[in-house]
Formats: sequence, structure tokens, C-alpha cells
Amino acid sequence: MHPVLYMKADDKNVCAPVTYNKLQHIPVRMIVIGGSSSRDLAKELAMILECKCILASSTRFPDGECYTRIEGESLHDDVVIVQNTYPDTSIIEMLLIQDAAKRMGAKKITLVIPYFGYARQDRIFKPGEPESAKVMARHLSLACDRVITIDIHKETVLKNFKCPATDLKASGAIAEYFADKGIDIVLAPDAGAADRARDIGERMKLPYDHLEKIRISGTEVKIAPARMDCAGKNILIVDDIIATGGTILAATIQLKAAGAESVSVACTHGVFTGDSIQRLTGSQVDVLLSCNTLESKVSNISVAGTVAAELMKGKKKGLLRKF
Ligand code: R5P
Repeated sequence: MHPVLYMKADDKNVCAPVTYNKLQHIPVRMIVIGGSSSRDLAKELAMILECKCILASSTRFPDGECYTRIEGESLHDDVVIVQNTYPDTSIIEMLLIQDAAKRMGAKKITLVIPYFGYARQDRIFKPGEPESAKVMARHLSLACDRVITIDIHKETVLKNFKCPATDLKASGAIAEYFADKGIDIVLAPDAGAADRARDIGERMKLPYDHLEKIRISGTEVKIAPARMDCAGKNILIVDDIIATGGTILAATIQLKAAGAESVSVACTHGVFTGDSIQRLTGSQVDVLLSCNTLESKVSNISVAGTVAAELMKGKKKGLLRKF
């Protein structure tokens, strides 16, 4: 397969292209519906699959309640709804879009949840806490036939969906993006992301390892010195989520202190709370990128090809309607 460059949907004047492998063309009968949090990804997915894309309109009433609508007469086909569950308001919209799609005659509904929020709240730490990830998974999957997530923080959450659920990995898209960028070492900022560094390192045929992280508070972390010799090396740090940016900042400071030539950072989900993009780009981080599971000014690595390939596979297995 040959990598093909496409511009980000609706962003024709922006120079950074997104990359994915072009699928062998097979006509696909499905309709992609983009919720307000995932419009670009929905458009790009439909473009690869060469199928119809409808962007659900979404507004707020004066009291803040969500109003959404899928324009058109009827759906009467397999439907793929693309919508994040972050921020919380997107969850309500997702539930409403599912109901509208069913009423319009959707045959089978696949939810593509590029960033599944709440996956970090997968356990009860203190009595009286809810099992938040489970609550979200259960409710979101009440009216659909299949769920696809991307790099969900804890895969154990998948068993809580009330229908088949698959987690896709963004490692292929990240490895492809950085293939020609002169990277020497791939590092995860903590043990939890070690498999991701291994996957990307193996794909790029580069040495990989993980750093040791100690979380001091929600915003403060300590990173121990790397085991590998990083002096003069171009490092790629990979993680699933960047939220406050605390983890990445601490890792970068540690690596630069050890003499790293450059530090590039790639995450799947750029949550980027507060001013974290500015803090990171104004720091010792040389390159900051995320996948387009969450849209931001640095979300130039596309997972659309990965999702499209899975949907095609699903069609073969009968998870989506054959025609
Ligand atoms: C933690 O387990 C995650 O993989 C990320 O490292 C973490 O969520 C990043 O958070 P922050 O950017 O706030 O340090």
C-alpha cells in the first residue's frame, strides 16, 4: 500500500497534510454521520470510503439544552456515527443522534468514538465513587450495534459496552507520519504507555523504551532519568493522552537535560486542557502533534484510514449489512 497525502477536510488553506494509506477501492454502502465534535474526521472517513457524509446540525437552546438534526428524508442503510464523548455535552449529542438515526430507518448503527472520555475513571478508588467508565459505556451503547474506539485508555472498559466493541490503535498512523523524520529512539513517558512505544518502535525499526513516572498530583509528575543513552539523539515521545501537558513537559526536561538533540511528541488524543498547547509549544518540545481523534491546531496525524480499514473488515464479517 502506498501512503497518499490528503488535506484535512475543510482546511484547504492549511499546509500540513494528513496521511493515510489509500484503501483498495471497494464500493461501500453506508452513510457516515458526523457529530459536532468529529466533523473533520467524519468527512475524511466518508471520503476514503467513498460514501455519503451527513453532518448533523447541532445548536443549543437558550437554556443550554442540545438540539440536533440529521438532514434528509431517510437513512435506510448502515450508518456510522462519528462523535467524541468529550466534553460532556458531546455525550448528550451522541445519544440524540443515535435516536434520530434509528427513527430515520438506519439498518445497523456503528458508533465510532474517536476519543472515549471517562476511560481514565475505570475503577473505584474510594467508597461512594461511581464506576464512571462503565456507566458511560453502557448508556452509549443502548441503541447501537457496534462500537469502535481508538486507543481507549483502558481496554477493560470495552467489556461494558452492550454490543461488540473494538479498540483500534493509532500506532500505525503515528509511525507512518514520523517514518522520514529522522527519529532515533521512541520513548513512552510511563510504564502504562510502554506497549505503545514498543508498537511504534517496532514499526519504525527503532530502539524503544519507557520512562518511569511518579504522579505527585493531577497536574504534577516526576520523571526518572532514561535508561537509554539519549545524548545527541532525536527522541519521539508517544502517549495516548495529553491533558495538562505535565507528563510531557517533565519527560522533555529530563531528556533535554540528558543531552537529547530534539524531542518530538505525538499523542493519540490531544485533550489539551487550559493553555497546555501554548505551554508545550513554548517549551523545550521541538515538535508537538496529535491524531485527529480530537480536533486542534496540532491534530495533523489522521486515523481515518485506520477506521476505514476496520469498517471494511467489519463489512466482510457481516458486522455491517452486506449488499
Ligand atoms: C496517563 O496514564 C496517560 O497515559 C497520560 O500520560 C496522562 O493522562 C497525561 O496527562 P497530563 O498531560 O495531564 O500529564
